[in-house]
Amino acid sequence: MSTKTPIAVLLSGRGSNMRALANAAASPDFPARIALVASDRADAPGLNFARQNDLNAHVLDRGTARGRGSFDAAIEAAVRRSGAELICLAGFMRILGPDLVSAWHGRIINIHPSLLPLYPGLDTHARALADGVKLHGCTVHHVTEGVDEGPIIAQAALTVSRSDTADTLAARVLTLEHQLYPAALAAHLTGNDLPEQKAAIFSLPV
Ligand code: GRF
Repeated sequence: MSTKTPIAVLLSGRGSNMRALANAAASPDFPARIALVASDRADAPGLNFARQNDLNAHVLDRGTARGRGSFDAAIEAAVRRSGAELICLAGFMRILGPDLVSAWHGRIINIHPSLLPLYPGLDTHARALADGVKLHGCTVHHVTEGVDEGPIIAQAALTVSRSDTADTLAARVLTLEHQLYPAALAAHLTGNDLPEQKAAIFSLPV
């Protein structure tokens, strides 16, 4: 019997973080397996990748799930049906409602492209550049009712170079995200190395 924790990955687009999780999960030593990839957008490229790689891919139907409450119920039903015990948000562009967040307290995590609590929300790279910050990066954190506000599980940082644009910074941070998310998930599930609610800056080459 597998001792891997079944996880659900929720996405809305490209799905490169989901692919990083799927690649990591392919290793027998990784403590999670992907039980569900669900998207609120039927045309999300990440969903196609999931289908092509025999992952359990599911479209969350926004048409029939009217209003936030019923959309959350659609998410919860899909997740429960899959047997997933943890929800990993990976570029999921919908805000989860308070009932869902509270029912899954401590069992929903997200990756965000900034060093939280700096730059919650959108356009993180352009905002970081406009402020002239010298360090930037990404954060894996618990999801709570406040958007991008939950306790931090792990962070990875890089130095901003003078020639960076929002696009080059986004690409460089994304590479870090692909390393951080599987590592943070594994640490969270095993309780090793990166204690919950503590940030850990990875010194990765930039
Ligand atoms: C990532 O930058 C993630 O941090 C943010 O949305 C983006 C999703 O990218 N929440 P992808 O779909 O995983 O490629």
